[in-house]
Amino acid sequence: TTSSQNQAKQQAAEAAIEFIQPGMIVGVGTGSTVNYFIDALANIKQEIEGAVSSSEESTERLKAHGIPVYDLNGAGALQVYVDGADEITPQLHMIKGGGAALTREKIVAAVAETFICIADESKQVDVLGNFPLPVEVIPMARSYVAREIVKLGGDPVYREGVVTDNGNVILDVYNLHIEKPIELEYKLNQITGVVTNGLFAARGADIALISNGTTLKTLH
Ligand code: A5P
Repeated sequence: TTSSQNQAKQQAAEAAIEFIQPGMIVGVGTGSTVNYFIDALANIKQEIEGAVSSSEESTERLKAHGIPVYDLNGAGALQVYVDGADEITPQLHMIKGGGAALTREKIVAAVAETFICIADESKQVDVLGNFPLPVEVIPMARSYVAREIVKLGGDPVYREGVVTDNGNVILDVYNLHIEKPIELEYKLNQITGVVTNGLFAARGADIALISNGTTLKTLH
C-alpha cells in the first residue's frame, strides 16, 4: 500500500460523512478504508446515535472512539451502510471478503436502505474475478464445497489459519472471470455448506465514492 493509496482511501471515507444525518445508527463495514471512515465518524459522534458493526475488528475501533455499538437485532431499520470493496464494477457489483468479514457485512448491507461503497480507484474493474472470490464455508463441508466450486470453473484455495467471526473457514476462488455476477452469487449460495459468498451483486452498492488521492468521483 502506497501513501497515495492511503490518501485515496481517506478521501473516499471522509466523503461518506456527508451522508450521515443527526440521530442515525450507522451501519459500518470492515477494512482499512472503513477504518478511516470510523475515525472520521468519531469527529461527529455527538450527533449520531451510534453504529451497527460488521466485525469484531470494527466494533473494537468504534468502541475505542467512544461510539456506541448496537446489536443488529433491535437496532431497527438502518438508513446507511458504509463499506469498502476488493473489486467494484461500473454496475456497482462487488467482490468483498478479503478481510474475511463478508457474512456479517452482507447481513448488515441487507438491512440497510443505502449501501455506500468507499474505495480507492485500484478497486475499480470492468469484470469481477481477478481478485480471488472469498466463500465462507461450514468447516465440515470444506472439501465438498471445494469440489462443487471446481465444477463451476473456479479454483478454490483454503485460506489456512483463518477462522471467521462466525467460526467458519474461507475458500478463496481463483481464476473466475465473472460475466454474470448475480447468477454466480445465486449458484454459490445453492451449494450446501456455503454460508455466504463474497459477491455483492444481487444487492450491490447504491452509491460508490471513489478516489485517486486527489479527485473524488461518485457513481450511482
Ligand atoms: C472485508 O471483509 C472486506 O469485504 C473489505 O471490505 C475489503 O476487503 C476492503 O478492504 P480495504 O478497505 O482494506 O481495501
